[in-house]
This record gives sequence, structure tokens and C-alpha cells, in this order.
Amino acid sequence: MLKLRPRRLRLNENLRSMIRETTLSVKDLIYPLFVVAGSNVREEIPSMPNCYHLSVDNAVELAKKIAALGIPAIEVFGLPEYKDEVGSAAWDMKSPVQRAIAAIKRAVPELIIVGDVCLCQYTTHGHCGKLCGHYVDNDETLKLLQKVAVSQAEAGADIVAPSDMMDGRIAAIRDALDDKGLINVSIMSYAVKYASGYYAPFRDAADSAPQFGDRKQYQMDCANVREALKEVELDLAEGADIIMIKPALAYLDVVSKVREQINRPVAVYNVSGEYAMVKAAAANGWIDEGRIVVENLTAMKRAGADIIITYHAIDFAERFQYNGRTF
Ligand code: PBG
Ligand code: ZN
Repeated sequence: MLKLRPRRLRLNENLRSMIRETTLSVKDLIYPLFVVAGSNVREEIPSMPNCYHLSVDNAVELAKKIAALGIPAIEVFGLPEYKDEVGSAAWDMKSPVQRAIAAIKRAVPELIIVGDVCLCQYTTHGHCGKLCGHYVDNDETLKLLQKVAVSQAEAGADIVAPSDMMDGRIAAIRDALDDKGLINVSIMSYAVKYASGYYAPFRDAADSAPQFGDRKQYQMDCANVREALKEVELDLAEGADIIMIKPALAYLDVVSKVREQINRPVAVYNVSGEYAMVKAAAANGWIDEGRIVVENLTAMKRAGADIIITYHAIDFAERFQYNGRTF
């Protein structure tokens, strides 16, 4: 007779729940949202079903709902009213992002607000920094990123999250925040951000596609993992409070390696293309959306993520949070 039978502990849901190694909670999630100018705007983003362009008033209403659902944090992206060569709307206190951060902080002070720090939505050329010819000038860009981070922190952001992939931006931003006395504003670094086809729906949503070339001179090659550990090491040394890996699903090996090596919190960004694929298949009846969402998010936590930035956060909180996993 067999002595060891792993199936014994799978007999029913109570047994399975007692030996479950990974749990998922709304408390793990950050919901990303897109703010625009105007009032009473709520326009669905075509490639991201159930995600909207929101004017500040509607963003405040959604933030209240998010907080009521128990989701601890949001990340704010913005579409500016004007673009120029250097992306100056990115640090304009009158831009939708800065106004939304301030209004949400006033209305729902306990909700953690993460500001995405980048320039690509704000530049006419769609690159994440200041150009010198067709090259993104690293050190000139750092000065602009400092202004963006400080403006978001002054508006009320609890965390700033630079997504540009310039070298040295964490140290530059930490210095700029500290100079202004913003010592308790954290930095969540998009430390390991791959040049990925999975960002396509976001670039439609944020109108941030590069007008020439691609981002491969600053974002990482999807073939590399040792290089990811190098990026993490640099950002930790420069003072990053949280390390993020992006995208999530195709990079869970990277998440797991980073988790083993560091003792600071790890976040993953479950990006727009990953979301759009699930939504499209679900809309066609090809998959069970709730089941897939829970499975995907559980896999991210199992790989080692403490925090998951995901467009599924509201659906998860409202519809997919199964207690007794009956599926
Ligand atoms: C901007 C930025 C991008 C995303 C977050 N910040 C796109 C890009 O780098 O082109 C992607 C988010 C998503 O796809 O959900 N630097
Ligand atoms: Zn960018």
C-alpha cells in the first residue's frame, strides 16, 4: 500500500485552506487610474474594458469607493492639457495629476496615493525624458524628474514611483524630496522595467507612445535576469523603499529571484496588456474571468510579490474575492 498520499490533504476545502501557502487580499492591491482635464468626464478606455479616463471630480468619487472596498492604495496617471519638448506639464501644479492628488488626499486622507513619475505622457515626442537628437539625455532628464516627484509630493502623494528607467533617478529624486523636507515620502522604484509589448493598451490610454523609435535604450531587454539584479542593487543603494518589477506574468522568475536577494518590499505591476488579454478572453466566454484573475494574482504573490498594482483590483474586491474557493 502507498504510505504517502498527498491527496489526503486535498479532500475538502477546509483541509485545503489549512495547508494553503499563499493568500490573497485586497490589502495587497494598488489600483491604477487615469485622470484628465474637465469635469464630469468618465470615458471608457477601448483597449482596457471597465477602466476610464476620469476628470478630477469623478476620480475623487472613485477613490472614495476604492477606500470603502478596503483597497489601501491607488496610483495616479495623468493626461495633460498640453505637451512640449520637455514635458513641463508633468510638474505643473495645475495639471490633472497634481489636482487629482490634492483633491483625493483631501477627500480620503487615509487612501495611499502613488504618483507615477515620468515624462512620456507629457512630451510631444513621447519619450520618457529630454532629448538630445534622438537620444534621451540621462542626466538632463534627472533634473526634470526631480521636479515631477517634488510637485506630486507637494500635492499630497504618499509615494512617488519613477517609471522612466534613467540611471541614477532614485538618488536624484531622494535628494530633491529631502531638500524640500519631504522626508516621509517613499520611493517605489520601477527598478526592473522591461521593454514590453504588454504596455500597448496603456499607451493608447495615456497617449504616451514614442513618436519615433522605441524605449529599448532605457527599458530592459526581456532576455535578461542578471541585469535585473543589478538594477535592483543600484536602486537599493540609492534609497528605494520598494522595488517594483514590471510586467508581472511573463517575469515571475525575476520576481522570485529578486525576492530571495533583498529584504525590502517587492511590488509587481500587472500591466495593461495582461489585463486586456484576460478581459478579451472573458468577453468571448473562453475563460472564467474570476478564476483566472485569482489564479494570476495568486501566482504573483507565490513568486514573492508583497504588493500588486492591478487594474483588476476593483473587480477583485467586488466580485472575485472568494472565501470558500469553490472553483
Ligand atoms: C510610462 C509608463 C508605462 C506604464 C506605466 N508607466 C508605459 C511605458 O513605459 O511605455 C505601463 C503600464 C501598463 O501597461 O499598464 N513610463
Ligand atoms: Zn515614460
